[in-house]
Amino acid sequence: MTFDHPFEEGTTLDRFIFETTQAHPEATGQFATLLQQVSLAARMVSSRVNRAGLAGMLGATGEVNVQGEFVQKLDEYANNTFKKALEHPGVVAAIASEEDERPFYPPDRFRSGRYVFCMDPLDGSSNIDVNATIGTIFAIFRRRSPEGTRAGMDDILRSGRDIVAAGYVIYGSGTVLVIAAGSGVHGFTLDPNVGEFFLSHPDIRLAPSARTYSINEGYAASWDPRLRQWIEGLKSSGDGWKARYIGSLVADFHRNLLKGGIFLYPATRSSPQGKLRLLYEAMPLAFIAEAAGGAATDGHRPILDLEATALHQRAPLFIGNREEVAAVTELLSQP
Ligand code: AHG
Ligand code: MN
Ligand code: MN
Repeated sequence: MTFDHPFEEGTTLDRFIFETTQAHPEATGQFATLLQQVSLAARMVSSRVNRAGLAGMLGATGEVNVQGEFVQKLDEYANNTFKKALEHPGVVAAIASEEDERPFYPPDRFRSGRYVFCMDPLDGSSNIDVNATIGTIFAIFRRRSPEGTRAGMDDILRSGRDIVAAGYVIYGSGTVLVIAAGSGVHGFTLDPNVGEFFLSHPDIRLAPSARTYSINEGYAASWDPRLRQWIEGLKSSGDGWKARYIGSLVADFHRNLLKGGIFLYPATRSSPQGKLRLLYEAMPLAFIAEAAGGAATDGHRPILDLEATALHQRAPLFIGNREEVAAVTELLSQP
């Protein structure tokens, strides 16, 4: 999608959605409704996150999810809130979530819409209890099967190149929604008093090169030795490299997107596919990185060239400024 004119700061998310979809006379309104419902769910989760310590939302539910991780109360709240917001307006055919073993299909009483929504409803859950930044990550695909029929796995297991829009919401010192929907990457900050997102970061671009790296160095002993050497090289280069690692992908990515940087979650000996999930963590952020002039690979191929073959599939992730992603990818691709 393209705009004829740049958006002014202060533009509401609603206006952005309206003008973006107006540019497409063939649009049915489903995409606009989908984004509006994402905005609603994001505002609800944001409000809950802000009151988490008071609303009894800290801590675990006692359940373990399909990834073998303890489910936090906010994971469950965010998962249910996004599903509830999206199931009824007839705009989604399926929702894939980190928290659900199987895809969620809107109940029969609702129309099965045109889009497939893949989400990590609450990213960085280990940071909830310490009030550090967390977020929601999502990718949107257009379904392959006809609208109105029940969708299936074929609609969900896709190539990253099929993504039509992707975004994330970061619940930090402020709540910011960043979206890439074919017209560049734009950030909107929630004004909690008004209850609306306003354009605050128009047309975000990643510089070609960076001086910040984000990786969990605690695992260095189990990385590919070439990666260990590369990181050591940055540190001893005298080029002013800084390390920053929050442990919430969405927060590490957001900082690097605005300030420049490379985020790395490599394969380790015990996790040859790394930790992060392809469909709802790596792919959406890769879509945003590319749209902002950056890059993302799994150490060999662009993330967006990969085809998902399983819902909760993992992939190593190297994402951020083009030069650094290319350098580390070239290194790891050597036989
Ligand atoms: P989630 O909370 O959705 O399970 O994701 C946690 C992820 C990601 O946000 C972060 O980058 C990574 O876990 C951190 O993992 P390590 O603690 O292994 O560094
Ligand atoms: Mn996550
Ligand atoms: Mn999560």
